[in-house]
Amino acid sequence: MSSQTGRPLWMDGHMAPVPDEIDAVDLEVDGTLPAELSGRYFRNGPNPAPGEETGHWFSGHGMVHGLRLRDGRAEWYRNRWVRTTHFTGGADLVGPDLGLDRAAVTANTHVIPFNDKIYALVEVGFPYELTPELGTVGPCDFGGRLTSGMTAHPKQDPRTGELLFFGYGFFPPYLTYHRLSADGELVESREVDVPGGTMMHDFAVTENHVVWLDLPLVFDADLAVQGVMPYRWDDGYGARLGVMPRDPDRAGEVRWFDIDPCYVFHVGNAHEDAAGRVVLDCVRYAPADFAKVWATIGGLPAAEAVNAAAVQGMARLHRWTIDPSGGKVLGEALDDRGTEFPTHNDGRTGLSHRYLYTVTGDSIIKHDLRTGSSATHSPGQGLIPGEAVFVPAADARGEDEGWLMSVVTDAAGRGSELLVLDASDLSRTAAVRLPRRVPAGFHGSWIPDA
Ligand SMILES: [Fe+2]
Repeated sequence: MSSQTGRPLWMDGHMAPVPDEIDAVDLEVDGTLPAELSGRYFRNGPNPAPGEETGHWFSGHGMVHGLRLRDGRAEWYRNRWVRTTHFTGGADLVGPDLGLDRAAVTANTHVIPFNDKIYALVEVGFPYELTPELGTVGPCDFGGRLTSGMTAHPKQDPRTGELLFFGYGFFPPYLTYHRLSADGELVESREVDVPGGTMMHDFAVTENHVVWLDLPLVFDADLAVQGVMPYRWDDGYGARLGVMPRDPDRAGEVRWFDIDPCYVFHVGNAHEDAAGRVVLDCVRYAPADFAKVWATIGGLPAAEAVNAAAVQGMARLHRWTIDPSGGKVLGEALDDRGTEFPTHNDGRTGLSHRYLYTVTGDSIIKHDLRTGSSATHSPGQGLIPGEAVFVPAADARGEDEGWLMSVVTDAAGRGSELLVLDASDLSRTAAVRLPRRVPAGFHGSWIPDA
């Protein structure tokens, strides 16, 4: 699918890449930035270099946009490409002999703080360490111990400080679970048996379990040879959720539960309820919605049936409740609006949560899962919000005491701002005017000053 200009959707309008790296200081603030918001907001996304045309939205070089806030001021903005070997020297992830160079990646999906370091992530390869000023340190394989890629959606256990993640492969082992200790040592790697290679973008954790989403977006070597995004939908693969004990001594006890075929890019959060059931909240694409979004972001024609008005090409908030002992899984829709990029208070990761935050094409939504109600903030006509990152208030008692940060970009390409909302009621706290348009991208993090 292409835009009215004939360019791919992700090369045009509010998604179009920017051509260069800039710096700006003393940014204009509308409203009052809370003084305790001292730190950095970094956000990653694909940004092909000038003259490059990528065949898929996911394929552009990672560019991180960074904003430095301190004592109520917005001190600086800058944007930098992640200087991977793919960016600087044209190295390729897959060599002619099908060998993998896991440093030759885009590093374009997420940027996270962990153990006093900052990492840019993309799921097929190694993380890239960045400096707090957005310089690139280099690829990280945790002392040679990481032998797979690293998902862009690791989960930090708020109780232990450990970072749990996984890597998936085109070839066996298709799935490997990893655990980093709180001080950054890769202390566990565990192969997990799945039927094939799929694009597994996210997963979930609870206090005692890891939850896998083994879904029918399968690796296709023929597509890989053609040099295009090597994944396609396969009805024959089926779809299943896997519940795996985190306890290494129970590594073999993975239980799988068949579900209706669907796709999930993003998990909101998961927890165990009082009955020991695993409750997983995510945004789920029905097959036709997935077909539409996959065609859209890959520049492919969508089938006529997929273009039907009822097919939005969006995901919807969904809950699975899995009873590991009884062997049952219950699926239920939590909201009928098309949403993406679910976030939560990271202090609740793997634990029970009351609130999730999502974005639509024009709004930020706060979902109260206890009451079933929701609140909405619309930044304005033609303004498109990105992922809303929850930042807890100092001394917060309530789960929703804090702020949401979202880069909002004008659909007509006229500019961007960092919007700061009060997460308790979605009222507008402040907005920082950015010196340039920030293309719609993927994920970001608030990195508080130590
Ligand atoms: Fe993601």
